[in-house]
Amino acid sequence: MTTAAMATSAKAGGRPASRYYEVYERAKTDPLGFWGDAAKEIDWYEPAKTVFDPDAGVYGRWFAGALCNTCFNAIDRHVLGGRAAQPALIYDSPVTGTKKTFTYSEMLSEVSTLAAILRDFGVGKGDRVILYMPMVPEALFGMLACARIGAIHSVVFGGFAPKELATRIDDATPKLVLSASCGIEPGRVVAYKPMLDEAINLATTKPETCIILQRPQLAADLTAGRDHDWAALRTAAQEAGKSADCVPVLATDPLYILYTSGTTGKPKGVVRDNGGHMVALKWTMKNLYGVDPGEVYWSASDVGWVVGHSYIVYAPLFHGCTTILYEGKPVGTPDAGAFWRVIAEHGCVTMFTAPTAFRAIKKEDPAGKLLGQYDLSKYRALFLAGERADPDTIAWAENLLKVPVIDHWWQTETAWAIAGNPLGLGELPVKHGSPTVAMPGYDVRIVDEGCHELEANKMGSIVIKLPLPPANLPTLWQQDDRFREAYLTEFPGYYKSGDAGFHDEDGYLFIMGRTDDIINVAGHRLSTGGMEEVLASHADVAECAVIGVRDDLKGEVPCGFIVLKSGVSRSPVEIESEIVGLVREKIGPVAAFKIAITVSRLPKTRSGKILRGTMKKIADSDPWTMPATIDDPAILDEIGSALKQHGVGQ
Ligand code: COA
Ligand code: AMP
Repeated sequence: MTTAAMATSAKAGGRPASRYYEVYERAKTDPLGFWGDAAKEIDWYEPAKTVFDPDAGVYGRWFAGALCNTCFNAIDRHVLGGRAAQPALIYDSPVTGTKKTFTYSEMLSEVSTLAAILRDFGVGKGDRVILYMPMVPEALFGMLACARIGAIHSVVFGGFAPKELATRIDDATPKLVLSASCGIEPGRVVAYKPMLDEAINLATTKPETCIILQRPQLAADLTAGRDHDWAALRTAAQEAGKSADCVPVLATDPLYILYTSGTTGKPKGVVRDNGGHMVALKWTMKNLYGVDPGEVYWSASDVGWVVGHSYIVYAPLFHGCTTILYEGKPVGTPDAGAFWRVIAEHGCVTMFTAPTAFRAIKKEDPAGKLLGQYDLSKYRALFLAGERADPDTIAWAENLLKVPVIDHWWQTETAWAIAGNPLGLGELPVKHGSPTVAMPGYDVRIVDEGCHELEANKMGSIVIKLPLPPANLPTLWQQDDRFREAYLTEFPGYYKSGDAGFHDEDGYLFIMGRTDDIINVAGHRLSTGGMEEVLASHADVAECAVIGVRDDLKGEVPCGFIVLKSGVSRSPVEIESEIVGLVREKIGPVAAFKIAITVSRLPKTRSGKILRGTMKKIADSDPWTMPATIDDPAILDEIGSALKQHGVGQ
């Protein structure tokens, strides 16, 4: 069944009126008219002659030939259009006890000053700038300053280790790095600068310049000749009256590269363009999130993730909203009422976070007692994404908040929701466990291995018919072939999402898991293949396998099995703890890799393939059947006992 048929079938099912169906149909039958109209919401130096050029790029390009500037649309046009004095950004940081508001006019001043500083260091159109930053306003200024001068930013999440940062430096070859002396995690100050130094040491390509924000919690030593103090540069530039204007770029020029986990240890550099990104994200603010310009919108994510890029920084600013940058956690900063405090204090109408954050709140304050202390009268909806929203968590949030709780499904590659419940078009009935229906522009199909469409309620691979809508990745950074091979080859004519699931008879999608080795830990996407590379690098390890096991809080956590080389006489416990340390050192704390289990052998098929799927089912206490091709069935019992000994699952 096509998505259109799914949508029609939902309508025929006697659903309440929502403009969704007609809007979806229009985007499908007249994509050029639909996206051409959406593009009128953006200010262009020169509009596109053609809304979509099917012959450009790997599968066509949106708004080819148009000239625009993302920073202009995020800031300048609001200053010019009467929002100069409206807050653009509220920085709320319980971990440092700081709150600060920047109006659109102040944002313009900060961003154009920083853009001038970057320009003076020789950064121009097409140059890459890496940001390795905590959740501070300067991270946003940095991203927008790059956009202003046509430079391409690449933000690396602070929870990644130096080696991961080095891999990204080598792939993006940045001219300049923006970083800070430290990040603040509850109970510990994370020294960023030594990690940056180590990454630059490890990298083959050395950035010429680093601009370091010295935070009062921990000062960093600066390397003479390469490192510069952010505040000193800012003061000098302001005193000299420096400011950089917006540089027109092609709609198809890259705005940013965001690395995401692939099926190997080498991350994929997802490219985002300027024009399509603005058009699609602006469209979502009213139509999907139901938010109006001038309202306060909050995404409790991190700027290191795509949700942070799209919904902390870009979309709310394109729409003239006030966005919130929250440097804290859902619990422990100081308590499980933190989210309610932020919503009440800043008058948020909508918030967006990962289900894991709500599971954390539910665990600490199951009765939701802390909510009673706050006035959430302006609050209208909760949006969840990043991992499957389990029905229990959704029901708990609905009961507590008495607002729509909307699960929506998307990926780093897409920049916005593939499936969701578009509140601005009229809410569709919520089905727990489903992110509702395909968004306009996405023709989603469920297929079998031979790319044949499956009927309702049959599980298969989830694919999207090409072309992908605006804002979706046009390619991987300087790797068109890897892009084709990873996403477009297996199902010709379609984009392979890597997710598995089904649609029901009403056309509602259900996203059930991945078809590759990627796991989702606390809403963070990680490659078990990448972790296996780290385990295998330990001198005493002969073979290994990493699986994701179910976890009440984080959804999944990684669990590593190691087989020691023959002749190794050291204690397995000691080696296991080294393995845990090694993953933290090589990938970073974000991997949350805490379980390593030594076994004498791994279960395999007769052709030598490790039976990770069966191991996962055993660990999750899910029903499983003995694989017909297994080499030695007794090994699965050994895995079961080893898991039991380590207190995992069962
Ligand atoms: N810099 C350095 N370290 C970081 C970091 C950062 N920016 N972010 C997280 N870490 C560290 C944490 O301190 C933790 O280290 P530890 O092993 O020493 O405790 C580790 O990485 C894992 O972090 P996290 O996944 O955040 O787990 P947690 O146990 O600290 O918190 C939750 C659990 C549920 C509260 C937290 O995961 C959360 O808020 N999740 C929301 C997810 C989210 O925003 N996803 C984005 C997509 S919408
Ligand atoms: P990321 O690229 O980090 O945003 O992770 C994308 C992956 O997270 C998707 O491919 C899914 O596996 C998972 N995911 C994101 N949102 C959802 C959702 N609402 N329901 C189920 N899985 C989701």
